[in-house]
Amino acid sequence: MTIESQQDVDGILKAGRVVAHVRDAMLDAIEPGMTTAELDQLGADLLESFGAKSAPRVTYNFPGATCISINEEAAHGIPGPRIIQAGDIVNVDVSAELDGYFADTGGTVVVPPISRIKARLCHATQLALKHAVAEAKAGAPINRIGKAIQQTAKSHAFKVIRNLAGHGVGKGLHEEPEGIVSYYNPSDTRRLQVGQVIAIEPFLSTKSTYVNEAEDGWTLLGQHGNLSAQYEHTIIVTRGAPIVATLSERRG
Ligand code: CO
Ligand code: CO
Repeated sequence: MTIESQQDVDGILKAGRVVAHVRDAMLDAIEPGMTTAELDQLGADLLESFGAKSAPRVTYNFPGATCISINEEAAHGIPGPRIIQAGDIVNVDVSAELDGYFADTGGTVVVPPISRIKARLCHATQLALKHAVAEAKAGAPINRIGKAIQQTAKSHAFKVIRNLAGHGVGKGLHEEPEGIVSYYNPSDTRRLQVGQVIAIEPFLSTKSTYVNEAEDGWTLLGQHGNLSAQYEHTIIVTRGAPIVATLSERRG
């Protein structure tokens, strides 16, 4: 969506605060021995306490309140009986609708013991998001976002997943502009506009550049042994630095 009123700004910021809070609470709660269904229940209860509705559930009838993806799972993992183990890299993606406004966020943590490569993967992906957000100014080509992500991945010797992308958000979970990819696409001539609400979500990986749908019809898998990380913010584009709607109360 494109912001048209102060009510729109407030609505996005309010939805953004809720999903950011739920994201952080879920990431903080992750412990070995817990199932992903238990972790999702925490997210579901929190969303409900804020009067928010799970966006993947209301939009796509996703079988969970949040997406929880572990190790070779890159995205859209279904919460269930899978038990979180020591050393797992766990991604939580939280998106919700509140009073007609949608916000989308995600984050990744490693369950100790934290190997060097997993720590670096998380660090590089966070940095990629930061660099991408810094490129998101009104008038700027959309493909600068992908360029910034790809450069950050490359400088840390990681790959980007090419068939997962950021997107417009706001009145729905996925809106125009779709396909805000994590690589430089010279043929993308679109430019960002004042007031556009977009979700930026780099996926960096150790091996895979594409993910495939699992037999469950939802989970997106990298190749065997692949690890990936994702961080996602919903932002409002301005002429200067964007307004980040999903900042952490603690982590920034
Ligand atoms: Co998301
Ligand atoms: Co998203």
